[in-house]
Amino acid sequence: MQTANHGKMTITSIRPVFDRDKPKMYIETYGCQMNVNDSEVVVAIMQKAGYSVTKAIGEANIILINTCSVRDNAEQRVWGRLEFFRQEKKKRPGVTVGVIGCMAERLKDSLLENNIVDIVIGPDAYRELPKLVEKTESGQKGINVLLSRDETYSDISPVRLDKTGVTAFISIMRGCNNVCAFCVVPYTRGGERSRNPETIIRELKELQDNGYKEVTLLGQNVDSYLYNGMAFADLLAMVAESAPEMRVRFSTSHPKDMTDKVLKTMAKYDNICNYIHLPVQSGSTAILQNMNRKYTREEYLQRIDTIREIIPGCAISTDIIAGFCGETQKDHEDTLSLMRKVGYDFAYMFKYSERPNTKAARHFKDDVPEDVKIKRLTEIIDLQSELSLASHQKDVGTVVEVLVEDTSKRSENDLCGRTPQNKMVVFPKENCKIGDLVNVKITDCSQATLKGVKN
Ligand code: 5AD
Ligand code: SF4
Repeated sequence: MQTANHGKMTITSIRPVFDRDKPKMYIETYGCQMNVNDSEVVVAIMQKAGYSVTKAIGEANIILINTCSVRDNAEQRVWGRLEFFRQEKKKRPGVTVGVIGCMAERLKDSLLENNIVDIVIGPDAYRELPKLVEKTESGQKGINVLLSRDETYSDISPVRLDKTGVTAFISIMRGCNNVCAFCVVPYTRGGERSRNPETIIRELKELQDNGYKEVTLLGQNVDSYLYNGMAFADLLAMVAESAPEMRVRFSTSHPKDMTDKVLKTMAKYDNICNYIHLPVQSGSTAILQNMNRKYTREEYLQRIDTIREIIPGCAISTDIIAGFCGETQKDHEDTLSLMRKVGYDFAYMFKYSERPNTKAARHFKDDVPEDVKIKRLTEIIDLQSELSLASHQKDVGTVVEVLVEDTSKRSENDLCGRTPQNKMVVFPKENCKIGDLVNVKITDCSQATLKGVKN
């Protein structure tokens, strides 16, 4: 076991402890990168309280499910899993089941109204988990869904659950103060708060000491990071300088808040990856206004031009919602034309899903018929496939720098990893290994991957 002590907290390990003699917890995670990182925080808290981790649900004493509420289908998947856990409890009556994360926060004690769930904990109450687990030992149920103004788990070193140990997330802030009309996040994750930069750098150094090669700074809206006068651009520069050998990424940026200073910082430091995820949501100003996004189509496109000016070759990805309240065919076409104009390298695309109590649910009608939503989403996905392919085709014949993350899923003889632009590359292993930075000559591509050979 590795022992390190950077600052306040004594860290026993940032890797999971598998110990036969300790009670075992199993954790399953749904939703965003933030949730993945939160699960790592939860494991750290539980390991400190004497639990070990298991990957086999059948031997777990405690089953946790870290949930997402962003769309209805995300919640439906969790309900499906809970039914499966019910079977597990029947087989082994002593098992404790906990629902944690956004769905716990949204549905609160109604989640306890079945014979499956014993514990409900919202995103700001994870420190209470060991106490609540103890409570269930005497047959009680436990709930804590208090949101906090200042919890950032800054003293906790997340226990990294990824298998390869190359890339890791560092949470730099929690919550969100934007009230996008469609979004449940401000209600499930509470208000915005930024994490003490010293603890961010401490975590960065730990990762570096443990051989990690890349970090992604996470926040619902990283551009509003602010800690004692330190803004996101300053933090980014500090991270890049503190670990010059590591690649640095961040997510997510908000088009209304992303400053030129951030772009200039990206341009200045070679180790900050030239890749920006800049969710547009819609290409129609009228829809953007109803979504309460606080920028117009033109302002968004202006931001894109500025990115291209300051960081030539920067890859850009986005999130798009099809069929938001009141969306006309013309609005939809505006989204398609904006996608073409930007030429996104990648996109996450969704059908609008009304979330209870959000601004949109309260003020607008979910009036785009399901078949129209599906048709529009399909058109958006088809267009993005073309754009992704075009983006990859431009790379054929060039040499790119790949950080090797894993063995290829398709072949033991191939490795896979990402370029700074976040493009997935597959190439024959030769003498390379996971964690290496390799120059790869791109010889072929599909819309999803680049293929090449070591240069
Ligand atoms: N319906 C569909 N997509 C949504 N998103 C957020 N809320 C909803 C919703 N109610 C999408 C947005 C956001 C991404 C994380 O999820 O595109 O950027
Ligand atoms: Fe992440 Fe939002 Fe889903 Fe919560 S609701 S897990 S913040 S995507």
